[in-house]
Amino acid sequence: MSGLRSLAMTLGLLGASGCALAAGAASSLGGAAAVDGASIIHADRHPGEWLTYGRTYDEQRYSPLTQINDRNVGRLGLAWHYDIPGDRRVQEGTPLIAGGVMYLTTAWSRVVALNAATGKRLWVFHPHVPRSADAHGCCDVGNRGVAIWRGRVYVGTYDGRLIALDAKTGRPLWSVRTADYTKGYTITGAPIVVKGRVIIGNGGGEFATRGYVTAYDARTGKEDWRFYTVPGKPGVRDGAASDAVLARIARPTWHGQYWKYGGGGNVWDAISYDPSSDLLYIGTGNGSPWNGTVRSPGDNLFITSIVALRPQSGHYVWHFQEVPRDVWDYDADQQIILADIRIGGKVRRVLMQAPKDGIFYVLDRTTGRFISGRPYTPINWARGLDSSGRPIENTGRFYDLTGKPTLAMPGAAGGHNWQPMSYDPATGLVYLPVSGMAFTYAAAKRVSLRKLGWNTGDAFTALPENPQVVAQIRKSLTGFLVAWNPATQRAAWSVPLGTPWNGGVVSTAGNLVFQGDSMGRFCAYRATDGRRLWSVETHTGIVAPPVTYEVGGRQYVAVEIGWGGAFALAAGQLALDSQVNEGNVPRLLVFRLGGRQAMPAPPPPPQWMRDPPPPATVSAQAIALGRTKFQSFCSVCHGDSAVSGGVLPDLRYAQALVNPGLWQRIVRGGLLEPGGMVSFAGQLTPREIEAVRDYVIYRANQTQGERAARPY
Ligand code: HEC
Repeated sequence: MSGLRSLAMTLGLLGASGCALAAGAASSLGGAAAVDGASIIHADRHPGEWLTYGRTYDEQRYSPLTQINDRNVGRLGLAWHYDIPGDRRVQEGTPLIAGGVMYLTTAWSRVVALNAATGKRLWVFHPHVPRSADAHGCCDVGNRGVAIWRGRVYVGTYDGRLIALDAKTGRPLWSVRTADYTKGYTITGAPIVVKGRVIIGNGGGEFATRGYVTAYDARTGKEDWRFYTVPGKPGVRDGAASDAVLARIARPTWHGQYWKYGGGGNVWDAISYDPSSDLLYIGTGNGSPWNGTVRSPGDNLFITSIVALRPQSGHYVWHFQEVPRDVWDYDADQQIILADIRIGGKVRRVLMQAPKDGIFYVLDRTTGRFISGRPYTPINWARGLDSSGRPIENTGRFYDLTGKPTLAMPGAAGGHNWQPMSYDPATGLVYLPVSGMAFTYAAAKRVSLRKLGWNTGDAFTALPENPQVVAQIRKSLTGFLVAWNPATQRAAWSVPLGTPWNGGVVSTAGNLVFQGDSMGRFCAYRATDGRRLWSVETHTGIVAPPVTYEVGGRQYVAVEIGWGGAFALAAGQLALDSQVNEGNVPRLLVFRLGGRQAMPAPPPPPQWMRDPPPPATVSAQAIALGRTKFQSFCSVCHGDSAVSGGVLPDLRYAQALVNPGLWQRIVRGGLLEPGGMVSFAGQLTPREIEAVRDYVIYRANQTQGERAARPY
């Protein structure tokens, strides 16, 4: 929704009927060829389309469509579905819709064009991301979406390319390497196009990288500007748009040999644009490594910040740092929503963010000045914010200073992660998927840069040592759909979902909020009071955000299903009572009123080793060695304490567990490299690899019967 229109809504000039009128007068756009700045800014002239990642540049994810509404949503049924081919990895995509064509991305950065009314496949683009790239990214091989501009479709690939495709055929027109995956950079976020420039960031804050965002000419792919979010090695000039501001403001907040670990500040998700003030907002990630003692004293600008830039030049305008010298992996990459809202009787031009640190921030989006901030979930790392928005930290929680394991809330998965929220200008509420999950941080005893595996300076071994801590963390596991009033900084209503890591959200002028959850339910709630009006069982965990669109006078609601992501991969035994999702069949589901297609049947349960595990016979020392290595190298994909979260193989039940030769050929020899399981020969000796097997056998015995006790 454009600034003007949302201002009018806030002032009550339009009200709900204004939305209905706009929907009734829906004019169709001429397809991808007609998508440009004007059509995105004036998105409400063609409310049936979904032209950019957040529907509009302000990232509100609010649709003016009303055909499906709180009175008839009970009649929603499946219109069609599309089975996403490839392996069963996370699906995070926001499909874009232009001129009756849907442009979808899937795991491994594939792009699919479908007829948005029938689901007929028009083309598929497969970028052939090397499977070994899996080991150079933190959080699964998802992709969140494309950008469209003047007949072209742009996608960032997991291995660091930005590719322009012909929207009609899916043929690649140009491709640039914007980030190097072999150095720990990956792309999961969607690009956006502003004033003819494709803007793309990258992730890698767990892999000793230095964050940046780059703008390319949409026509030619020529690099226009680059902005680094943290300083590089002193004395080395980047020749980038960030040079002056890094020297002047950021560099003085870093000390020691910080550049060796990259520094972090990666822009892996949020990018919004405000046409009226001509500001581009980027959210920056955690410091690299997490462990602040290894990294640097000082605030470490611009990690965990919102930075406002000029889209034409990449020049710095202002910044707001949420967590100075972040040691918790509290990225500020989460979606940045722009809106004009009435606070204390005055209409304010704000931006809103609910980042991983657990606090809902409202800033003046023109000046970057702090307006308000309040926890949207229990937090213990800070006691609150001062009048400038700077946190008053609980220094007793700085694990890197005390060396003691420390339980922090929220944990590293965040109180809210990338799963998009939605702002409904009619209710004035932000619909926010909240996760509860504490995490225990512990400084690694020795920190050295590794070529493979995470470089966080955190040992990941603090957790399983202490059953009480594990119990405490499990108790903290919750999830809510929260309707947050940004003006009063209070929840208007909240729906408990039971488990964390649920799907993104869309709200509509039909007084509806749609969300999928980690248990595989896809639901519609009444926007005003949170009452659940409709739901369907999909049998696969949902993290992606739904979208809604209209083709041929008919409104549709679409959502990708497919479980995965950081929490699903790594939480392991900590999330045991949460989503297990062994079915995990990736699909796109599309609903309409009166849709009559039958929901696809639940998948058969996977075939796991049914025999009891071999007895654990080795010494406690060997098991301890195996545990250290497992937690350090394997847990991020195969789950904490060797309990899989349902995405990658559960090693306690793997055939290779009973076959030491096969185990070595996989872990050392790279036998399954084509499937994404790289060789660890450079990191682990054969003896250590065998110790890891001993540890997994020990865990298999310890937990025997656990899987059988689960619901499926
Ligand atoms: C970056 C993610 C990642 C990491 C880290 C990782 N793996 Fe894997 N692993 C995979 C994937 C993906 C597969 C599935 C490969 C396939 O299906 O071909 C796999 C499969 C396996 C298998 C075969 C399982 C079966 O069903 O037979 C074994 C054994 C294994 N991994 C052991 C390990 C060990 C030990 C470590 C730590 C030293 C480790 N993995 C670290 C991604 C990872």
